[in-house]
Amino acid sequence: MIKTNENKISIRYNRPALANYQLDALFNDSRYGIVEASTKAGKTAACLVWIIEQALQGKSGQGFWWICPVYGQAKIAFRRLKAGLPRESYNPNESDLTLTLINGARIVCKSAEKPDNLYGEDVFAAVFDEASRAREEAWHALRSTLTATRGKVRIIGNVKGRKNWAYKLARKAESGEPGMSYQKITAYDAIDAGILSEDEIEDARRQLPDNVFRELYLAEPSDDEGNPFGMIAIRDCITPMSNEEAVVFGVDLAKSVDWTCVIGLDKENRVCVFERFQKPWNETIETVRRIVGNIKTLVDSTGVGDAVLESLQKDGRSNFEGFKFTSQSKQQLMEGLAVAIQKQTIGFPEGVIANELESFEYEYTRTGVKYSAPSGMHDDAVCALALAASMASKPVFEFKVYESSSEPIYW
Ligand SMILES: Nc1ncnc2c1ncn2[C@@H]1O[C@H](COP(=O)(O)OP(=O)(O)O)[C@@H](O)[C@H]1O
Ligand SMILES: [Mg+2]
Repeated sequence: MIKTNENKISIRYNRPALANYQLDALFNDSRYGIVEASTKAGKTAACLVWIIEQALQGKSGQGFWWICPVYGQAKIAFRRLKAGLPRESYNPNESDLTLTLINGARIVCKSAEKPDNLYGEDVFAAVFDEASRAREEAWHALRSTLTATRGKVRIIGNVKGRKNWAYKLARKAESGEPGMSYQKITAYDAIDAGILSEDEIEDARRQLPDNVFRELYLAEPSDDEGNPFGMIAIRDCITPMSNEEAVVFGVDLAKSVDWTCVIGLDKENRVCVFERFQKPWNETIETVRRIVGNIKTLVDSTGVGDAVLESLQKDGRSNFEGFKFTSQSKQQLMEGLAVAIQKQTIGFPEGVIANELESFEYEYTRTGVKYSAPSGMHDDAVCALALAASMASKPVFEFKVYESSSEPIYW
């Protein structure tokens, strides 16, 4: 900051080194800049620079907004903004996530959870981060705050299916609508720019189902609306209920609201037993033991499931093994099932199982990919199927003694 005379203060600002795609995507004259990009390609970082520059060109009292789908992300953006600015250049208000810059302009970080709270103020420029994961109403609200000011906005995020406002807006921008710019950034662009490492991408490609990888790293929308298994792949696995004997079982235990679900697979990995019920624990234990007999069974042993597993194992029933659901173990379990479905090495009948698979969703979070049923729907059949498939793919160790009279004892 250099004071030149009584009324004029000159602010000197060094823009951090950004990749060309970051500059092209955001630092242009368009009023609406839409970016569909790989995760970790530097969307958020470049937009933080952009909003700071917008605010530094603003005037005292003017508001500049940063919007994220949930409050936790707004807090992270606030922390990153502070980290990117010299301490003497802003005044923070931690409770309303506002930074007042030396020129008096305010950068406010907000969550899109309650769109009604976004109405009412005049906003001079804004960023909507992770737009495809936020409600359309929040965009309508933000848009209204930019009307009087004719403020610019940058809308950034991963792609997530085709049924959301960010996808539709991106198609409009891509088709050359006046005032809009569009940029797609893949993980390979980020590798070329030295922001992402190739190893990391190859690891993600190996770990994730193909359609998930394509959305998250190649910015290619899936037709599966966030379904990790793939709609066509699910259909391709549908086969009538098998009449063969079960060789493995998966058991998902009812927790608060859902069902206990038992699924058996035959030696070809086709569903041959499918039972769902809601009973008190003692009856649940009895029923499961009756259905599975002495066949190998993987049981959800999370929380109360631990005690249930112990009861199942009573009297030396060693065919029961436990599986503890954590966000990480669930991710691995579901990815195993996704691979089986995509390779068609598993079969299941029409009805509850196929329906639950079709409505299953994944969501990218900071800690990994989260798999679950949409709120209000069940995933017990998906979990039981995944447990059975996991049990079926476990290697079997066989131990046999070959008597040999010619082997000398060497100890
Ligand atoms: N131009 C750049 N040069 C070096 N590192 C960068 C650059 N842009 C972003 N990064 C780094 O890459 C990582 C991911 O950036 P981020 O903006 O959080 O990605 P995204 O929002 O696309 O998931 C961060 O650690 C960030 O500091
Ligand atoms: Mg980001």
